[in-house]
Amino acid sequence: MTQSNDPNSDAESAAVLRCWQDNAAPWTAAVREAKIRSRTLVTNKAVVDAILARAPSRVLDLGCGEGWLSWSLAAKGIRVLGVDAIEALVDAAKSSPSDAEPTPQFRQLDYDKVPLALVGERFDLIVCNFSLLDQAGVAKLMRAISTLLAPNGTLLIQTLHPDYVGTAQTRSDGWRSESWQGIGDDFRGQAPWYYRTMRNWRQLFAESGLQLTQQIEPLHPETGLPASVIFVLEV
Ligand SMILES: C[S@@+](CC[C@H](N)C(=O)[O-])C[C@H]1O[C@@H](n2cnc3c(N)ncnc32)[C@H](O)[C@@H]1O
Repeated sequence: MTQSNDPNSDAESAAVLRCWQDNAAPWTAAVREAKIRSRTLVTNKAVVDAILARAPSRVLDLGCGEGWLSWSLAAKGIRVLGVDAIEALVDAAKSSPSDAEPTPQFRQLDYDKVPLALVGERFDLIVCNFSLLDQAGVAKLMRAISTLLAPNGTLLIQTLHPDYVGTAQTRSDGWRSESWQGIGDDFRGQAPWYYRTMRNWRQLFAESGLQLTQQIEPLHPETGLPASVIFVLEV
């Protein structure tokens, strides 16, 4: 993991999207061929279980990528809308080999456009599975997200656990870039993402107007340490 203190947030946000655009095909292959060990061992089941425990009828999968989670929830009878900024990922999601019903809907949307594009829609649950990678864009999204939640709605965010990623020295808010090592040979460049301390996440949640009601820490069976954190926020 490399660390950058670049304060130029717009350039970093553009770099996040460019990275996912450049790597849509190898990412789709990595997810569908189960190449990401922490996902197959821990985090996929953890997020699905956390969602099903809340028995939502309608879910918004924000930053849905190639759509695995949307299709998994559809297989449980849940109506899902998946959105992602990257056209190639949305296309992959639409043409998923899964044929679960009700067929999820997918739309190409940047988070920036989501609140306006979905105005008037209400979801029982919104899930962001490893998809909040940006700094300012995510902060803006969080401030608007409650407008998309039904009364008693839930926001679930699964992300790398701030206290178990990198080293103690790198655990201050800032841009990082991650290699794709171990999940395929066709990836280009590195993946930029904004590291937030636990304190920073909590500040973000306070600004969202939602209440943090639970923090789930799924344990990696090989290390015994949290493989991620799932924040549960409620209206
Ligand atoms: C690590 S992938 C996770 C994808 C999916 N949630 C999953 O579990 O496989 C991050 C996703 O977030 C999406 N994303 C990042 N920033 C975004 C933005 N500003 N607007 C919409 N999607 C975004 C990327 O295109 C990518 O599909």
